[in-house]
Amino acid sequence: MSVAKKISSSIERASWIRKMFEEGAMRKAQYGPENVFDFSLGNPNLEPPEKVKTILKELVSSNSKGMHGYMPNAGFVETRKAVAGYLSRHHNFTFDHEDVVMTAGAGGGMNVVLKALLNAGDEVVVLAPYFMEYAAYIDNFNGNTVAVPTNHNFSLDHNAIEKSLGSRTKAIIITNPNNPTGKVYKEAELKQLGELLTHYSRKNGEPIYLISDEPYSKIIFDGMTCPSIFDAYTQVFLVTSFSKDLSLPGERIGYVAVHPSIAEKDMVTEALVLCNRILGFVNAPALMQRMIPFLLEDSVDVMLYQRKRDILCKGLEEGGYTFTVPEGTFYLFPKAPIPDDVEFVSSLREENILTVPGSGFAGPGHFRIAFCTDDKTIESSLPGFARVMKKYK
Ligand SMILES: Cc1ncc(COP(=O)(O)O)c(C=O)c1O
Repeated sequence: MSVAKKISSSIERASWIRKMFEEGAMRKAQYGPENVFDFSLGNPNLEPPEKVKTILKELVSSNSKGMHGYMPNAGFVETRKAVAGYLSRHHNFTFDHEDVVMTAGAGGGMNVVLKALLNAGDEVVVLAPYFMEYAAYIDNFNGNTVAVPTNHNFSLDHNAIEKSLGSRTKAIIITNPNNPTGKVYKEAELKQLGELLTHYSRKNGEPIYLISDEPYSKIIFDGMTCPSIFDAYTQVFLVTSFSKDLSLPGERIGYVAVHPSIAEKDMVTEALVLCNRILGFVNAPALMQRMIPFLLEDSVDVMLYQRKRDILCKGLEEGGYTFTVPEGTFYLFPKAPIPDDVEFVSSLREENILTVPGSGFAGPGHFRIAFCTDDKTIESSLPGFARVMKKYK
């Protein structure tokens, strides 16, 4: 066989997701794209703010020399200073540019952090249901994924987390707000998690790191905000990007920030910078780094996503679905009316409604709806959702 066994078996396991995408494309060709309700991907449908275009135009027409050259692997100092300023304004700590490494999106940032931390066989705790790429990222560095359930409303289950912590635990990953559930973890539950990690770090004689993946932290509804992870614990890596809040996922720009008081900070940040380079990213894209300082306080209009959530939740509730109302992101994770979520997703597909089975997120018995689509797609899909539910009730 030409490709690595691990990769060929990953392709095999993912093949039903691929099949769904292929069938979606086929259905769009057959029935017309307006008659296929595609909720499968977290690709934001809102265009980036106009300011993105204005700043990019200015940047690309500038006559400055070296605009497109290599730079320090951590990123431009001016960009990192701007990010450090943003973090200092929005968290209760003062950040220095040395605390920030610019990365190729949050996905790139997660890989950089995990490469910097993991020895083969180290365990990384993830909280189910979780973003499915984490297990692959952990495996990239020969770590072992330990999946721990959350409570029925997807809040943190501290007892389950405590049971999972052992001498091989190197880190825990949380996603706040969460993909696929839309849950926002609250300040008190994060503090309790921090206390737990402090206790078990002492026991292990070395830190258990908390990696907080927050690319949706600005996409929060009903006037809520995302609590600062830095208040909860010291051994923290914040990983984030501009993929979702500025609708720039194709541009691959994000950053990792360490807690200003993280242990052995110089060593940790040097490791991040080295890993950014040797993973082949070298540095985050230059043009995007030049742009980001002007956009740190901006985002797409989050009220538009809130409206989509409200249309969807109302329609699904009327159609007989049960779910926890998402507090952020653009995902809804309803219960399937039967245990076999793959079968239920297939039934939805018969109505040209494309969603993803919860099993793909270690959340069986559920399915994920990515509502980053236009309002009309959501509205037009509701009768189909209701018809499918009727079949099972
Ligand atoms: C929870 C989570 N983390 C990371 C990513 C990757 O984002 P990026 O495009 O910034 O790499 C995604 C993308 O969907 C995500 O949902």
